[in-house]
Amino acid sequence: MDGDGGADRGAGPIGWRPQPGPQALFVRCPLFEVVYGGARGGGKTDAALGEFGLHAQEHKAAAKGLLVRRHRVALEPTIARARQIYLGEATWAEAKSRFEWANGAVLYFRYLDNDADADLYQGHDYSRVYVEELTQFPNPAPVDKLKATLRSAAGIRCGFRATCNPGGPGHNWVKARYIDAGPMTAVEEPFRNPFTGKVRTLARMFIPARLADNPALLRNDPGYIPRLQQSGSAELVRAWLEGDWNVIQGAFFDSWSNRNIVTPFAVPRDWTRLRAFDWGYAAPFSVGWWALVPEDRRVRPGLVLPRGALVRYREWYGCNGRPGEGLRLDAETVARGILEREAGETIAMAVADPSIFSEDGGPSIGERMRRAGVRFRPADNTRVGKAGALSGWDQMRARIAGTEAGPMLAVFDSCRDFIRTVPVLQHDRLRPEDLDTSAEDHIADETRYACLARAMPPPIPATPPAADDSWRRDWGGGRGPGARARGWKAL
Ligand SMILES: Nc1ncnc2c1ncn2[C@@H]1O[C@H](COP(=O)(O)OP(=O)(O)OP(=O)(O)O)[C@@H](O)[C@H]1O
Ligand SMILES: [Mg+2]
Repeated sequence: MDGDGGADRGAGPIGWRPQPGPQALFVRCPLFEVVYGGARGGGKTDAALGEFGLHAQEHKAAAKGLLVRRHRVALEPTIARARQIYLGEATWAEAKSRFEWANGAVLYFRYLDNDADADLYQGHDYSRVYVEELTQFPNPAPVDKLKATLRSAAGIRCGFRATCNPGGPGHNWVKARYIDAGPMTAVEEPFRNPFTGKVRTLARMFIPARLADNPALLRNDPGYIPRLQQSGSAELVRAWLEGDWNVIQGAFFDSWSNRNIVTPFAVPRDWTRLRAFDWGYAAPFSVGWWALVPEDRRVRPGLVLPRGALVRYREWYGCNGRPGEGLRLDAETVARGILEREAGETIAMAVADPSIFSEDGGPSIGERMRRAGVRFRPADNTRVGKAGALSGWDQMRARIAGTEAGPMLAVFDSCRDFIRTVPVLQHDRLRPEDLDTSAEDHIADETRYACLARAMPPPIPATPPAADDSWRRDWGGGRGPGARARGWKAL
């Protein structure tokens, strides 16, 4: 094989060979879980298909693979490419949607556009599971269910392999789980089988994909890069070419920038304070404390918060550390937590998700919190503006974009969960004027309530200032809780 010592896994009789670099690493990596992600056209899908070809040769009838994509149409080009790669090795059985090898190996092609369908795989067993475009899955639950199907009666080493590009509704969890641990770094982590509850320690690794590592594509299709360059903004093209996870495709709040993040300062006593709340029990709740800037205030050289700007000076995000999962606190406990955090402050106004006032056979959440000493009034819950009206997300967007004088919405850099979840929110695929609610949107909802409680007066600037993306570099890092990382020397 070509050069880099991967001969043991690249020299079989199938026509396909991994290219040197990440593809070769991908097919040789012995760890249970390998995620290959980054640049478009980096050779990820080829690597996944080729890896199974080699696995099938090696393990014959014990090789049982499942390749999953989110959407059915997206499977078709993958099947077409697999036909080329497996030519003379395996045949496509349309009715069963699988490739069959004469030696008994099989590779199923399936799609999973509904998270609940992952339950149908309970009791299955595969030696390889491939998830293509992992970032198309808004949350990891269905993926973890597929992972739980990896076991082999023949006792061969099983493995989970996934490919992905930056962007998409799952960008956030994929980045936090795999990319932030660092490239080529083995991470050991307990994995709880969602079907049986059994916990075992599994090792995983992220391999970054770059277009430059796919000379086969560049040789055969010299127009590929110029075509990419014409089909997106400079930032997006950079994300595609370099596989940069800190550049976010299609961010809903696209004018969010470094100027929306400020170093904490003591909020003067006479500033008006506002508390906003989005209730959650199984899902996270979000409490945001906002101060209204009474006069233009210079917060750092070159940055002024104009009169009327809202500053998020504190937050309490009720998440148990796993994205999208709540703390399961009752209304009284949340109320007590709020009172403790704001002790000594005068809160002039408090707004909350109107649904907390609905009664369902007993006192509402809002009423229980009132009895515990925390009052709210129902927030305006309009998400998308009707003709001409500036409401919901428009207000929030306009505040983030701000005016020439400065941003009308800023957050203290201590509000880590806001900074982690809001800027990466994406447009809804079917309703682009709304945001994709399958991502972690609780803090955005709570912020929307705050923005509507202090609506910006028209006019709104026609041209928002150019985005400064340095916040992404500053804030893109961090490791998942409990992850243990060590350099992977096995290569
Ligand atoms: N090892 C290889 N041998 C021959 N050709 C290859 C190899 N790897 C990749 N290619 C060529 O590069 C093309 C693009 O690779 P591939 O589809 O795997 O990229 P990708 O990273 O999955 O792209 P996307 O991000 O668009 O999903 C393939 O269709 C194939 O023509
Ligand atoms: Mg691909």
